Amino acid sequence: MSGKYGKVYLIGSGPGDPELLTLKARRLIDSAEVIVYDQLPGKAILESMPASAEKIDVGKYAGNHTMTQPEINELLVQKAKTGKMIVRLKGGDPYVFGRGGEEAEVLVAAGIEFEVVPGITSAIAVPAYAGIPVTHRENTSMVTFITGHEDPTKQETGLDWEALAKFGGTLVILMGVKMLGRNAEQLMKHGKDPSTPVAVIERGTRPDQRVTVGTLLNIAELAKERKVKAPAITVVGDVVNLHAILGEQKVETEF
Ligand SMILES: C[S@@+](CC[C@H](N)C(=O)[O-])C[C@H]1O[C@@H](n2cnc3c(N)ncnc32)[C@H](O)[C@@H]1O
Repeated sequence: MSGKYGKVYLIGSGPGDPELLTLKARRLIDSAEVIVYDQLPGKAILESMPASAEKIDVGKYAGNHTMTQPEINELLVQKAKTGKMIVRLKGGDPYVFGRGGEEAEVLVAAGIEFEVVPGITSAIAVPAYAGIPVTHRENTSMVTFITGHEDPTKQETGLDWEALAKFGGTLVILMGVKMLGRNAEQLMKHGKDPSTPVAVIERGTRPDQRVTVGTLLNIAELAKERKVKAPAITVVGDVVNLHAILGEQKVETEF
């Protein structure tokens, strides 16, 4: 590692409620000289970035990539080479569908020191705020996290739908709004009971979070009627029934 180079902190900002930001993340954000961010951390956290820092939005919006991943990697390397302290701010946890691992590998290859600051992942916190524990002794002690946005026209899918349909635990699907119908169909086609409870939680832990509950059979239709939009988490499994008992958690922070 070169002493001339700055250090890069890959920071997870949590799912949106600013009070779910870790103390370590807060301290590092407040002392950053450069912050490379996208929109997922949410308005409240982005507005709390220090005025003194250089702020670079590399935000990737569905269908409108402002910067490609290789460009972001290169930017981190170039900024670190100026000797400054860099924060790469990401929603949730940097290593859970956050491409933080790829960025860390690039930094290591370039001889730049880095540190990861884990964040509270939306995969767990968003269902929690919706009254859905992802495991529960009486329902399931298994949970799996998958990405739901694979292109259905792709010949090779990274997801083994047959295994997922047989999996008795909770499925937590990130990035799956557009493919909700296709994903539900895949699970049913491979034998998952169509009456399996499903919840889609939009903008979880934020003041305007919204929960839509249905079954594998009707969730796509319900989501269409309610114009469900990203960012959203889909939970499939019996734990969804706990939503009716535990209820939705009010987001207390004003933001
Ligand atoms: C690129 S992944 C990043 C996940 C992130 N690294 C994490 O650990 O939460 C983006 C997806 O995370 C989920 N997500 C993140 N924040 C969310 C929120 N507040 N409410 C609902 N879904 C959220 C959505 O599925 C979204 O499409």
